Amino acid sequence: MRKAPSGLTPVFQVQKRAPNSLYQQIYEGYRKAIVDGALRTGQRVPSTRVLALELGISRMPVLNAYSQLLAEGYFESRIGSGTVVSPSLPQRISSPRPATAVKGLNPARRRVSKRSSNLLSARQFRTLRGMGPFNVSQIAFDGFPLSLWNSLVTRHARHAGAWSLDYGDPMGLKDLRNSIAEYLRTARGVRCEAHQVMIVSGSQQGLEITGRVLLDPGDHVWMEEPGYRFAHTVFRFSGCTIAPVPVDAEGLNVAAGIRKCPQARAALVTPSHQYPLGVTMTASRRLQLLDWAESNGSWIIEDDYDSEYRYEGMPVTSLQGLDRNSRVVYIGTFSKVLFPSLRIGYLVVPEDLVDRFLAARFALDIGPATFQQAVLADFIAEGHFARHIRRMRSVYAERRNALIENLGRQFGTAAKVMGADAGMHLSVMLDGICDQQISKRAAQQKLWLVPLSPFYLMKNARQGFILGFGSTSVEEMPSAVHKIRKLLGPRTISSAS
Ligand SMILES: Cc1ncc(COP(=O)(O)O)c(C=O)c1O
Repeated sequence: MRKAPSGLTPVFQVQKRAPNSLYQQIYEGYRKAIVDGALRTGQRVPSTRVLALELGISRMPVLNAYSQLLAEGYFESRIGSGTVVSPSLPQRISSPRPATAVKGLNPARRRVSKRSSNLLSARQFRTLRGMGPFNVSQIAFDGFPLSLWNSLVTRHARHAGAWSLDYGDPMGLKDLRNSIAEYLRTARGVRCEAHQVMIVSGSQQGLEITGRVLLDPGDHVWMEEPGYRFAHTVFRFSGCTIAPVPVDAEGLNVAAGIRKCPQARAALVTPSHQYPLGVTMTASRRLQLLDWAESNGSWIIEDDYDSEYRYEGMPVTSLQGLDRNSRVVYIGTFSKVLFPSLRIGYLVVPEDLVDRFLAARFALDIGPATFQQAVLADFIAEGHFARHIRRMRSVYAERRNALIENLGRQFGTAAKVMGADAGMHLSVMLDGICDQQISKRAAQQKLWLVPLSPFYLMKNARQGFILGFGSTSVEEMPSAVHKIRKLLGPRTISSAS
């Protein structure tokens, strides 16, 4: 059973001059709090001494009320863990109850912002989460050096002084920003200094801050089509209009963007490994995009979310590194390369905009939480980060190869694999299927096939799946791919070679 928490004093008043006695008031106060669900089964209540002190009364009425509540079974007393609301009370007593019945509420009188109404239901994002093969955005959890990480956590916890309780630097911990700047200059060809690096809680917050600084409601933003849905939500939420621009084998089609929406104030791109198709933006497209941004006075937001792992061809450097006009805001994250619950990402902000970004930061959350930043700074400084990337690159390469091989074996030419050169996912196009339906059925078998079609905003969405291979072992791969084949049924199988 869950350990009884809190020992907090419930809100009820006792009045010394009331007609009923203090004992009765305390007894009634507790009984009502339990029956109304304000106090839940197993929850610890304060000791009689503490309650008497807090209510400013003698201990006797409190003792009497407690012994009555114990006698009637509302309370239970345990040696060593004090007095708790009896865990054996029936579920219908002391269970969570909605404050108001949702059914009776009139939606017309409960107007919320248009921006929030424009968002997709959160349920759509929640359905595809769980442990099992192919979940995109899951890493090789068992490959993370957790005990090493924990030893750094312990070291920091042990040495944390009272000063560590204060607000941290709103841009993020200096040591961490230094390490990130060094890493980005060396491994990603980003032109930056530490003072341009802002630590954020994942690239999602990076997008949010960037959108708030660069764009006004109603501004148009080019988004890759198909593109990252969590980015769609950010820009919708800030009142911007999304202009979907098709992605082809060379990446974002800049000429199509100019034709379609020349007035766009910004373009969001994933040039190293397009999400979700996985293509790498060619040098020519990169230069076209930079030229467009400079001549139009627009911004480029580069989401470089998983470029650490590349399996084919030369390492691709960042688009930001090519920019001579400070038009690019670069966003990176530790969600893929380390682990997503860390919620640490970073922005590299053009020199002249640092102060603006900082002002926006103050408006949003004042600054990032400090503890994990310090742990991460040591993890990088002591060489564990570089070692981890090297080790995981070969783990993921094996998983990726196993996935491609098994897809080939099961589907032959019926499945067109895209975007397998880098990262921890690939896309597989399967014409003539309904990806969303199959994905729902697959989830019942704990198989997480992210359907491709919802990533398109325009008509003519391609059907297929985005398959994460980060958390799927080589041993699991054959049976997991076989399950996909079974789910798709004979029609697709018959076209396999
Ligand atoms: C395109 C893209 N950007 C960024 C991220 C990471 O987001 P965050 O850093 O908020 O975890 C992901 C994760 O799946 C992604 O697919």
